[in-house]
Formats: sequence, structure tokens, C-alpha cells
Amino acid sequence: MFAMKINTASAARGEVGLPGDKSISHRAAILCSLAEGSSEITNFATSADCSATVKCLRSLGVQIDRDGGGLSVRGVGKAGLSAPALPLDCENSGTTMRLMSGVLAGHDFESTLVGDASLQKRPMLRVMGPLNKMGAKVTGEDGRAPLHIIGRHPLTALDYEPSAASAQLKSCVLLAGLNADGETSVFEKTPTRDHTERMLRWLGVNVETKQVESGTRILVNGDSRLFARDIKVPGDISSAAFFLVAAGFLAGSELSLPNVGVNGSRRAVVSVLQGIGVDIQVSNEREVCNEPVADLKVRGTADIGGSRPVRLAGAVIANLIDEIPVLAIAGTRLAGGLEIRDAGELRIKESDRIAAVAENLRRMNADVEELEDGLRIGPSELSGAVIDSYGDHRIAMAFAVAGLFAKGETEILGAECAAVSYPDFFNTLARVIY
Ligand code: S3P
Repeated sequence: MFAMKINTASAARGEVGLPGDKSISHRAAILCSLAEGSSEITNFATSADCSATVKCLRSLGVQIDRDGGGLSVRGVGKAGLSAPALPLDCENSGTTMRLMSGVLAGHDFESTLVGDASLQKRPMLRVMGPLNKMGAKVTGEDGRAPLHIIGRHPLTALDYEPSAASAQLKSCVLLAGLNADGETSVFEKTPTRDHTERMLRWLGVNVETKQVESGTRILVNGDSRLFARDIKVPGDISSAAFFLVAAGFLAGSELSLPNVGVNGSRRAVVSVLQGIGVDIQVSNEREVCNEPVADLKVRGTADIGGSRPVRLAGAVIANLIDEIPVLAIAGTRLAGGLEIRDAGELRIKESDRIAAVAENLRRMNADVEELEDGLRIGPSELSGAVIDSYGDHRIAMAFAVAGLFAKGETEILGAECAAVSYPDFFNTLARVIY
């Protein structure tokens, strides 16, 4: 296990070129594999999770060549994968397991998806339920991985209303729907990231979205075909969030983050930080491969937030679910503090992120209260401490940012887990911090 030491900082300056977006990269590898023809993917995520997806796809007979930041994928068609010789290892990646289970359900062969200790604790009943209704046979002891899948082609089309606001679950059902015998729909009460829908459209699939009074219905037809097309992956806004908080709260900072994905279903972290007074400039907004992209610049300001307590709850939570650990750190800098509610999904991420944030903030002497579905954080002078990452990349990186604000030295145990989404995080941080 590797421990990273972080010291008090006064500013963050320069430019950070972010790694390719993790969510978009998973989808690019999977959907280009299911397309007819060859695609080039540029700025593919360096994340270990996305490499796990690539390895699974190769084990299913897809030729994928990796060259620096690029991927060449020779698509096999939406039902053209071959039976794997061995269990498919999703490592730490919930997105790999949930999206691939939707793909494998519509293939007429048996497969097994395994993961590391953290992934094998995470709930998979949410994907087993709809896939079994569609005619696949997906089993997993106690609703958890290893998942054994006996696929069927075609599946039976399904109208589905997920039990949780989850883009992974929505995407699982839509991907299964590509190999079903009619129109499959997913009804969302709370919108979640829409990268799957956008990328399917980019590859020629007619994904319809219908706004109804109580939400959105997303429809995909089983007679759809995917056609190969190159994809440029934008920088990852969830990785940008660590730098937005670090630079935003260290007066004297000026940090440029060019080429960041600013999809409406992911960018709430920017509007929330702007709303509490962080100086973030969003410029050069453009569309790249059907995804909104922009350049961000953040300048440090002292005394952000005023005395009014800030509350994050309701539908916005799904839009910034991965950024909550670092927003909790920002909460310690707000004179009125921060309350986060309706975020129970955080308890079933790579770690129980509510408990992990509360425990580590307590170690840093912060005023924090753990709630069933969130956290209440008071304004706090942080002290350096030994932090347990719980093997969770976003906890390790969020507390590296906390260490910049703290008096004395902070030591992050198990810091190597940052590689799950951002292998170069600590080097990049060291380069821009003063
Ligand atoms: C993801 C969706 C979110 C997010 C995860 C990536 C995706 O999970 O937390 O990091 O790529 O679809 P849920 O869909 O389970 O909320």
C-alpha cells in the first residue's frame, strides 16, 4: 500500500489537461465494439476501470488496439461477440459490470462477470431483475457478483422503471434492448447522465426520448444497427472537480482546464460551485461527437459562500453524485456550512462514501454529522491527519484536496487507488500546487 503526503498549499496555477471522461470512454469501447466497421477513439480514459472494460471486450473476441491515448476498435456488430473462455474480470468497475451484463444478456452464450472485493459487495439485483424479465438468466448469490449470465437472442422487449436513479442501470437495459424483439423503454423520474443515448445516436441508432408529466421515457428498438464512427472523448469533469475545488478556495490561484465535458447531466458541480461564489469561467462551448465540451478557468477567492448554509438535495444529486466527496471538503470552507441529503446511493459506491467522508473529516477535526442519506458539515479549520482511502479513488483524491487546506501534514493511505479513474492525479496536483 502506498501512502501519499500532502502539505498546506497557498495556490494552484497553470494548466491541467484532464484524462478522457471515464463514463464516456466505457461507452465508446462497448458501443464501437457493437458497431459494424472500425472506429478510432481518441483521448480514451487512462482509468483502470476503462482498461478493465477493454480487456473484457477483447476476451469476447473484439480486436482492440491501444496506441498512446487512442484505441482502434474493430466492431463485430451488436450480437457478434463470442463466448469467453474464462470469467470476465470487471476489477473495481461497477460501470463495466452493469453495462456489460446488458450486452451479454442478448448474446446466446454463457458468461461470468467477476470483480474485486469492493465490486463483489455492490448490489447487482437492480440489473438482474430487468434482464431476467427480458428472458436472460442472470444469477448471483445474494444479488451480488460473480454474475453468471445465460444470454438469449433475441430478448423480450421491456418497459422498465428503475428502482434507483442510476445511469448504469438505465444503460444496462437500453443495451439489452438493442438485442430485443421490439421496443424497449426506460422511464426516468430523475434524469441521470445521458452519454449512452447520445453515443447511440452518434452511431446511427434512433434513440427517442419522450417527456411525460412525471419524467422521461427513453426508447430503443431491437431492430437498430450501430455503424462505426470515430469518437473524441472530452476531459473528465469528475476529475476536473478536484482542481475546481482546490483552486477555487486557494486565494491567488488561476488554473485552466481546457477541453472538459460539460454535458447538462454532469455539469451541476460547476453551477453549484459558481452558486456559492467560486470564480469559474466557462468558455468556447462546443459540441464534439454529440457531447457538449468547454474550456474552464478557475480563479481563487478568499471568503467564499457568505453565512447562508448551502443545501444540496433532490434531483441535483444524480447530476453530481461522483463529485460529492470533494464538495463535502468544500463545505468545510463555507461560513454557513453544507448539508447534503437524498444521497443514499453514495453508500453503495466503491466504498460507503458517506461513512468514509464523515470518518476522514472527523480525523481532520472537522465539524461533521453523518446522516442516513447524506452529511451535515460545519465550517471547520482542518488539521492534517492520516486518511483511510478505503481503496476508493474519489475518497483518496477528495482528501488530497482537503490536505491542501489543512494545517500540518496529511497522509493518504492506499493512495494508489486514484488510478481507478485518474492514474496521473498526484503528479498533476504536485505540478500545479504552490
Ligand atoms: C456512471 C454512473 C454513476 C456514477 C459512476 C459512473 C456511469 O453510477 O456514480 O461513477 O458511467 O453510468 P450510477 O449510475 O450507479 O449512479
